[in-house]
Amino acid sequence: MGQIRNIVILTGAGISAESGIDTFRSAGGLWEQHRVEDVATPEAFARDPNLVLRFYDMRRAAIQEKLPNPAHFALAELDANWKGGLLIVTQNVDDLHTRAGARRVLHMHGEHLKAWCTSCDVRSHWRGPLIERPPCPVCQARTLRPDVVWFGEMPYRMGEIYAALREADLFVSIGTSGAVYPAAGLVRNARDLGISTLELNLERSQGSDWFHETRLGPASEVVPAWVAEVLG
Ligand code: OAD
Repeated sequence: MGQIRNIVILTGAGISAESGIDTFRSAGGLWEQHRVEDVATPEAFARDPNLVLRFYDMRRAAIQEKLPNPAHFALAELDANWKGGLLIVTQNVDDLHTRAGARRVLHMHGEHLKAWCTSCDVRSHWRGPLIERPPCPVCQARTLRPDVVWFGEMPYRMGEIYAALREADLFVSIGTSGAVYPAAGLVRNARDLGISTLELNLERSQGSDWFHETRLGPASEVVPAWVAEVLG
């Protein structure tokens, strides 16, 4: 695998699938059960906040019942042992990377376990429901919303992601369909920068043609195998 010092990893719903968290675009996935426009846009929240809050309350409760799987643990092991640069950029709003022990994690689509107060702009750790409009722990306003990026909103910390990519020698995409931008465009940014690119996924994705190499299989198998290879 040549001289690799700095690695950027992008993860998607596929890495949490074997933990029992639904992906978005598979048969029976979340976006088949719910229309995006009904639950995951600012317009939906303005139109029917109870529907949106109930949806996220259920998801927030559900992820707390789930456990990290071998793919999360493998990336945590990589994080603990990799001396070079590493950034695990996740589109997932669960906390399974962190619970597995990974530290260098960036949540570009927000986090289920945080609530964002639109009055004072502070994000607070949050485990319970929001449907009853609890007060913000900081300013007491009853204006908390899920700290999750909705369609039509800007993903978080893109500047940090691009900065890490500019320093990277390897870009690895794990368990994502390549359907949602800007995350789906990172492989092309990596190619433009001359970085090696590797995809680990259950099946070929919309973005597969952009990668130098794609390895197919369940994340719980292909991710630990790749990490073992990298750590030598
Ligand atoms: P998707 O549901 O679009 O894609 C999941 C990917 O994981 C697919 O390519 C599957 O083949 C793959 N997959 C499924 N099971 C797997 C397994 N056991 N091992 C490895 N791969 C597996 O989810 P994302 O690409 O993460 O955004 O979706 C991207 C964004 O779209 C999400 O962050 C969310 C959603 O709308 C927002 O909510 C803003």
